[in-house]
Amino acid sequence: MTKEIEDWKATLRDLGVTSLIRPENQHIPSKESHSVSPKKIKKSEHVDSLPYEQPTDPARNPPIEIISACTNLQQLSEAISGCQKCVLGTTRNQLVFGEGNPDAEMMFIGEGPGRDEDLHGRPFVGRAGDLLEKMIIAIGLKRSEVYIANIVKCRPPDNRIPMPEEVRSCLGYLHKQIELIQPKVIITLGATPLRELLGITEGITKIRGTVQSYKSIPVIPTFHPAYVLRMYTPEVRKAVWDDLKFAKSKIEIPN
Ligand code: URA
Repeated sequence: MTKEIEDWKATLRDLGVTSLIRPENQHIPSKESHSVSPKKIKKSEHVDSLPYEQPTDPARNPPIEIISACTNLQQLSEAISGCQKCVLGTTRNQLVFGEGNPDAEMMFIGEGPGRDEDLHGRPFVGRAGDLLEKMIIAIGLKRSEVYIANIVKCRPPDNRIPMPEEVRSCLGYLHKQIELIQPKVIITLGATPLRELLGITEGITKIRGTVQSYKSIPVIPTFHPAYVLRMYTPEVRKAVWDDLKFAKSKIEIPN
């Protein structure tokens, strides 16, 4: 596949358009093939498509009571460090818990770790991470002053969008992180956190510029830094700048 097509697919993804993107290995039958008998599924293909069976031990499938009982991020991080509730736990190099100030007033939420994050065990450390850091500095904050997390804590292979069952397995951890941090404002990066945290399925282009809410915490949706890198236009950069300035104004309001 050419770089242009890869970029275009990634751009559609960032905008939340997933229905036009066919998974890499999905076969589209040609018209002629409708008339021939269905292809026999080889054993290896069948095994690949078997549903993932969750482990039952508390180290690999931390029970809800343990998660609820955590009173700080350190405890939570330890409780989920061996998580294999979904198949991503079996393919990751490192779980990417999230990082930053445990008392942050501003929290950023992305989609899931990429290759660099999976290798380092830290969120947003690749090119998109560099841009995110520049954006944070541009509004007068340091990376260490905010908190950065993702919808899923383990890397989806080939950086694909996390599957619904993977999000379902992982989202409770993010809910708990938000409960422990209690940020004054949340900034969602791209379409995935908007959809998975708030159930908003409209494209990010439509939703950005609005203020959403998560348990009474204002949520500012903005473009994912990876999208900004690909669409490095004055319009996109201004939009993100406006969103971040607005988010900053939310933490400047005295309690
Ligand atoms: N993209 C994300 O959404 N999260 C990361 O941590 C890195 C890239």
